[in-house]
Amino acid sequence: MTKFIIANYKMNKNFDECMDYINTFKNFRLPRERTVVICPPDYVLDNFASVIHKKKNCFVGAQDSAIERDGSMTGELSATMIKSTGAKYVILGHSERRNKLGETSGEVNKKVKLAVEAGLVPIVCVGEKLEETKKRKSVILNQLKESLKGVDISKIIIAYEPIWAIGTGKTCDVKDIQFVHQYIKSKLSTKNNFEPVIVYGGSVKPSNAGEILSLECVDGVLVGGSSLDPYEFYKIVKS
Ligand code: 13P
Repeated sequence: MTKFIIANYKMNKNFDECMDYINTFKNFRLPRERTVVICPPDYVLDNFASVIHKKKNCFVGAQDSAIERDGSMTGELSATMIKSTGAKYVILGHSERRNKLGETSGEVNKKVKLAVEAGLVPIVCVGEKLEETKKRKSVILNQLKESLKGVDISKIIIAYEPIWAIGTGKTCDVKDIQFVHQYIKSKLSTKNNFEPVIVYGGSVKPSNAGEILSLECVDGVLVGGSSLDPYEFYKIVKS
């Protein structure tokens, strides 16, 4: 089965840096058993999609989309606008948006529904803070319940990103990754009779990607810092 390798540039790279990156990356040969999704800043979605659309198993995604279908939302980009650039995926409910911008699971839920309606595949992020480690099962379950209310889980990807592991160099122990992924699968599979696709994110790098990706319950990785250099990211793709 294919494993997803997803790059999240976050708020990094100007236009020229983005184009240098994609012009390097487009020449890399991708393994058949990998699906690569690159999520750059919105202003290059169209450029990226047109460069990689001929590449097999390689797609473009946005890092967020608007909470409304259209209308008076100055500065926002709707799911249909993102879709029209050639993008196929959208990251929603990233912990940086939840914690720095106060995005709630209810808001994430609205965005997820609009993204699915527009034909995008949402990558819905959940994860606990360090101080929530002991009650992480209930924290994660609540985020999932609210973010995915009324959503067909066969149309989405879930990203488990423990917040304390993001950008810190501290990766979650593989046993813990396994535990949480199996927990999410057991909770969502029984309700929907379908096994959800779950990727792990949080300080994934070339040195640990192979071990994480070898876990059966891990369907891929979501990479921040180590995706910013095309050669580093390609090492993860090949892990
Ligand atoms: P890092 O890989 O930099 O820890 O970021 C993870 C992340 O937040 C991806 O969405």
